[in-house]
Amino acid sequence: MRYYILKNVLRQMRFVLLLILIATTGCKKKNDDNTGQSKGLKVYYSDFFPVGASVGSSNLTGDESILLIKEFNSITAENAMKPGPIHPSENNYYWTDADKIVDFAVANGMKIRGHTLCWHSQTAAWMFLDATGGTVTKDVLLQRLKDHIKTVVSRYKGKVYAWDVVNEAIDDDNSKIYRESSWYNICGEEYIAKAFQWAHEADPDALLFYNDYNTESASKRDKIYNMLKKLLDAGIPVHGIGLQGHWSIYWPSETDILSSISKFSSLGIKVQITELDVSVYSSSANFSVRTPGDDTFTSDMEQKQINFYKAIFRDFRTNKNVINGVTFWNISDRHSWLDNFPVANRKNYPLLFDKDLKPKKAYWEVVNF
Ligand code: G3I
Repeated sequence: MRYYILKNVLRQMRFVLLLILIATTGCKKKNDDNTGQSKGLKVYYSDFFPVGASVGSSNLTGDESILLIKEFNSITAENAMKPGPIHPSENNYYWTDADKIVDFAVANGMKIRGHTLCWHSQTAAWMFLDATGGTVTKDVLLQRLKDHIKTVVSRYKGKVYAWDVVNEAIDDDNSKIYRESSWYNICGEEYIAKAFQWAHEADPDALLFYNDYNTESASKRDKIYNMLKKLLDAGIPVHGIGLQGHWSIYWPSETDILSSISKFSSLGIKVQITELDVSVYSSSANFSVRTPGDDTFTSDMEQKQINFYKAIFRDFRTNKNVINGVTFWNISDRHSWLDNFPVANRKNYPLLFDKDLKPKKAYWEVVNF
């Protein structure tokens, strides 16, 4: 009798265990290996798009380099390939830092995005000046742009797979179209088409991007769309748009982001998120009088950031047919350009890794799908 009771209890226990097993397996998310160890963003996203980070040469050694190699399969030079740093005077190119970044990427099998060939900022003053200190003519400036693009693109031909050819040429002001930079003031809009043509001549295999921020503002989105359409209709080799993705936990909305992806991809070009970070401050939170704790990472910020990252990566996955790259601007909360902008010395926490390079909660929401 006791034997039969025991046997029945064991049988029921087996049944309950089986039910628990089925339930937990069913709930288990695809990428959650229950070890708390990350496999690497590049692994979770291998069926979707390369995942990159922007770097300086100081990030290529020590613990940051280990994280870079484990998590990312693409890198962008945060500053080293920009016109000013790489071409400080007319007959002098400074390759050291850019070469280090390219060598690191090649050694570790990573893709390289080139940033950037033509920009109103971080371009040395000599570019726009003649020998007497006056403004150069349009012909001279276009020749200098051509020389610059041909030299830089040729050096990294076959290594840099995509270039941000022109960066931030459209104005934020609704009443203007083109940014009134020295490029525009001296050459008119023509410099944009020329830059793409020369980059294409220098490396016909490279993917060429127009790159900008605030691409989710409806009026700026429309102006960029019109410019790209005009370039494409004229047969200019533009292959993609870089949505920089300098967003915050308050802006933009998911609808805005999806509208940009849909509108730009309707031109038949690819979309990349090129400079992603999610600030924990609203644009109006520009405090200048500091009180202790002003810039701590609160649980409210953390939760909003988790929600934001979770939503955008879901949208990126859904649009994997048009999105062919997502790059973070910097590696971890240890250092971000946002630590000094727009408020000097205000700590920000915009990335997926904390200052100790550990994955934040938002990271797990990005990879568990
Ligand atoms: O070159 C000097 C260096 O010699 C000096 O030692 C150092 C000391 O502060 O300053 C160096 O220059 C700084 C440079 O970063 C390199 O650290 C500049 O002052 C600083 O303005 C520059 O900031 C960069 C910024 O572009 C310039 O506009 C940021 O690191 C970089 O993250 C940021 O990146 C831009 C993208 O290229 C385009 N989209 C927006 C994005 C954020 O602004």
